[in-house]
Amino acid sequence: MNIQQMAQSSQVISSPLGSQISVTNVSKIYGAGDFAKEVVRDCSFTLDRGKLTVMIGPSGCGKSTLIRMLAGFERPSSGAITLDGKAVSRPGLDRLVVFQESALFPWMSTYDNIMFGPRARGEDTPEMRAYAEELLHKVGLDGFRKKYPAQLSGGMQRRAELARSMINKPAVMILDEPFRGLDAMTKKLMQEYYSNLYEEFRRTTFFVTTDIDEAIYLADRILIMTNIPTQVRAVINVDLPRPRHVEDITENDDANAIKMRALSLLHEEAMKSFARGSKAAADFVDAYAKRINKE
Ligand SMILES: Nc1ncnc2c1ncn2[C@@H]1O[C@H](COP(=O)(O)OP(=O)(O)OP(=O)(O)O)[C@@H](O)[C@H]1O
Ligand SMILES: [Mg+2]
Repeated sequence: MNIQQMAQSSQVISSPLGSQISVTNVSKIYGAGDFAKEVVRDCSFTLDRGKLTVMIGPSGCGKSTLIRMLAGFERPSSGAITLDGKAVSRPGLDRLVVFQESALFPWMSTYDNIMFGPRARGEDTPEMRAYAEELLHKVGLDGFRKKYPAQLSGGMQRRAELARSMINKPAVMILDEPFRGLDAMTKKLMQEYYSNLYEEFRRTTFFVTTDIDEAIYLADRILIMTNIPTQVRAVINVDLPRPRHVEDITENDDANAIKMRALSLLHEEAMKSFARGSKAAADFVDAYAKRINKE
């Protein structure tokens, strides 16, 4: 599908808070016969309209596989994924994914990258240009509008990427470990930028991470995933007031209780994978090596 077709396939958004997504009894098996590998098993959850749902799970458990299915790049082996009640069967600009590696066009300036979506839809209007300016400002890149991606730091590239996605006001924003691999300081700043953007934007958001502090800081609701083949192990509501500040969270008793509970569940899942024998352990080492290589 080309970008024009994607733009046409994007839906008219029925609610300013974005769409509702339901994942019902979804399984995903790669390969067949002796080579079959079950990555997702009978997994169900919803992404509530206007809410920020964070998925946290062990490395290699199948999080990105779920994202590829939500984004319509891949189909479940069984089960259903619906967006406002309609089956998701292909990619669309109504669901946008911010991948962890930068997907900015290297030959376009920051500004042109941000305006890419609106221009592809023929919406290079004064209102849209004003919105691009507002977003440039919100992500702290006013002074970098004419720079090319290679001239930006890793953190700036992620911020440009966020602005480039948000200008399209997707019905669902999907982020797959968008801050992975950034140094600790940059990561914390990104979380703050992102939290502010979300608090204004308030659209259905699905954020995947392996970082429990990041999960609690950002989430309305946390889905804790089991090891591979993954499914939802527990759902934890995070009823902390917004706007949030990182310091408030570290000193908050409720946040600490959530952290303890989440860590103990994640620890159990990691232990199970070792107990299951060499294959699961090998997968774990595999995923770990993959992660190290990416960092
Ligand atoms: N196309 C594929 N064919 C076969 N196996 C696959 C395919 N895609 C993913 N897998 C396997 O599915 C498992 C889960 O991968 P996935 O990338 O979804 O996990 P993840 O939770 O996102 O991992 P990470 O923490 O490394 O991002 C891995 O063991 C991977 O090797
Ligand atoms: Mg992944």
